[in-house]
Amino acid sequence: MKNRIQVIQGDITRQTCDAIVNAANTSLLGGGGVDGAIHRAAGPDLLAECRTLHGCQTGKAKITKGYRLPARYVIHTPGPIWHGGGRNEPDLLASCYRSCLELAEAKGCRTVCFPSISTGVYHFPLNQAAGIAMETIGEFLASHTLPAQVTMVCFDGTTKGAYDQALAELTKP
Ligand code: APR
Repeated sequence: MKNRIQVIQGDITRQTCDAIVNAANTSLLGGGGVDGAIHRAAGPDLLAECRTLHGCQTGKAKITKGYRLPARYVIHTPGPIWHGGGRNEPDLLASCYRSCLELAEAKGCRTVCFPSISTGVYHFPLNQAAGIAMETIGEFLASHTLPAQVTMVCFDGTTKGAYDQALAELTKP
């Protein structure tokens, strides 16, 4: 399972995986951060399809086509906004990863790319989020053959360091 998860530094809009995940908000109508980058790269047809979805609950996920993106699909998931940890934020973040993987598998995706959900504008503590992400992804892959490969696409060095450490923790003997 170890070699089915990788951590890279880069721009998720340029990844050629079957599905990229968008750290969206519950409106699914775009925003800043990675949400804004994905919508800019995908073009206006992405927003047009998102409008037909009528939003998405935190922790759930919905899938659209990728349009001008190299990725075939975009899986949109609203992560939890951090309010100190007492509002079920950890479970909701885990649910984001699980919901996205379930949708990816249902669509037969072999490769999926995730951004660091909720650790930007939503202020989820980075190291804690990385641990939750890796544990949830590891748990899903241990009992599913698809997706074959999951890539965390980190936008900066600090984020990459956190996910490298979380992956090392997950796979230590
Ligand atoms: N590729 C990969 N990662 C990116 C990219 C990119 N092109 N652009 C930003 N990121 C990273 C950020 O650096 C951060 O590590 O994505 C991570 C998540 O940060 P945000 O995009 O701020 O997402 P989040 O914290 O989940 O907040 C979601 O922000 O943009 C709005 O509409 C969005 O309301 C929603 C909220």
